[in-house]
Amino acid sequence: MKTTVSVIKADIGGLAGHVTVPKELLEFAEKRLRENVETGLINSFYVTHAGDDLELIFTHFKGVDNEEIHKMAWDLFKDATEKVSKKLKLYGAGQDLLRDAFSGNIRGMGPGLAEMEFEERKSDPIAIFMADKTEPGAWNIYLYKMFADPFNTAGLVIDPKLHDGFTFTVLDVVEGKEYKMNSPEDIYDLLALIGTPSRYVIKYVHRRSDGEIAAAASTTRLSLIAGRYVGKDDPVLIVRSQSGFPAMGEILEAFSTPYLVAGWMRGSHTGPFMPVPLRYSKVARFDGPPRVVGLGFQVTDGKLIGPVDLFDDPSFEHVRMMAARIADYIRRHGPFMPHRLGPEEMEYTTLPQVLEKLRKRME
Ligand code: 13P
Ligand code: 13P
Ligand code: MG
Ligand code: MG
Repeated sequence: MKTTVSVIKADIGGLAGHVTVPKELLEFAEKRLRENVETGLINSFYVTHAGDDLELIFTHFKGVDNEEIHKMAWDLFKDATEKVSKKLKLYGAGQDLLRDAFSGNIRGMGPGLAEMEFEERKSDPIAIFMADKTEPGAWNIYLYKMFADPFNTAGLVIDPKLHDGFTFTVLDVVEGKEYKMNSPEDIYDLLALIGTPSRYVIKYVHRRSDGEIAAAASTTRLSLIAGRYVGKDDPVLIVRSQSGFPAMGEILEAFSTPYLVAGWMRGSHTGPFMPVPLRYSKVARFDGPPRVVGLGFQVTDGKLIGPVDLFDDPSFEHVRMMAARIADYIRRHGPFMPHRLGPEEMEYTTLPQVLEKLRKRME
C-alpha cells in the first residue's frame, strides 16, 4: 500500500503581528488531528509553525488531492479561525482563507500544500522544509542545488542510483502552464526559467531512472488568487532522502548559503533566507529575515517517526550570522531596489497615489 505525506499550512492569525503562532492555535490543531487519527482518516501527524504560519504535517493512505483529506484541513483552519483566532483577536485572523465554501480541493483556496504518495522503501527518510516571509519560488535555487548541482550533491557524481539525474516540473504561475525539464542536459533551459522565481516555480522533482517522486513543493500565490495583497505565500517543501535520493546531509548542504529571497516586510522586500531551529521559528527584525525550518522524519508503515530539528546544529550558526550580516547590508538600501522589490512584484504600493498627486505639479 502506498503512503501519502501531506503538509498543509495557512496563516490564520499571528501573535503580536506577523511574528509567530500562539500555543492556543497549535493545541487546537493537535486536538483536531488526534481526533482524525482516532477515526482512521489519517495515520499520524505533527503540528508545528513557521513564523506565523500554522503547519499540519500528516500521513494517510488516501493519495494526493484527496477531497476528504483537504476538507478536513480546510475545516480545521476555518474552525480554528472562528474559535481561537477571532476570539483572541489574533493579527490577521483567517488571513489565508480566501474562499468561503470548500469545493473539493484546498488548492487555490489560500492555504499552501505539498503532498506526495509513494511505496515505502526498506527505510524512507524525508525532510520537510517550511518557510515564513517568502514565496514558493524561494525553493528554486535550493532544489536546483540538491538535485542538479554536483558541487552540492556528491551523489550525482559518485552514486550510480543518482547518476541519471532528475526531472524538474516547473509551473508558470502566471499562465498556469507546466514544463518538464531533465538534468543534466536541460539545466541551462531550466535555469533560464527558475532564475525568475516570482513566475517560474519548481513544483515536483522526479528521479529519471524510474519516475519516483523525489520532492514536492507548494506553489500557491495568494495575490494571484485574491487579485490583491493578502500576505505572503510562505511555502512548504517535502524532500525524500538517501538510497537513490540525495543524502540528508546533501539536502541540508543546499542551505549553507543564505540566498536572497523575496517576501520580507509587507511582502515587498528581498532578504537573506535564514535556516533556523524551531526555537527561532519566529520573525523579528523588519518582520524577518525570511526564515526556514527543517524537520526530518522516517516514514514507517504509514506513520511519521520523529522529528529531528535539522537546523538545530552548530554547523548552521555561521550561516545564520552570515544571513544577519547580509540583512544589515541590504537593509541600508531602505526603500531602494533591489532591497525593495520592483513595482510589478510589490505586494502593495502607493505609487499610483503619489503619481496622481505629482501630476498636478507637472510642468
Ligand atoms: P551510510 O553508509 O551510513 O548509510 O551513509 C551513507 C551516506 O549517504 C552518508 O552521506
Ligand atoms: P505574512 O505573509 O507572514 O503574514 O507576513 C505579512 C507581512 O506583511 C509581514 O511584514
Ligand atoms: Mg501573517
Ligand atoms: Mg507568514
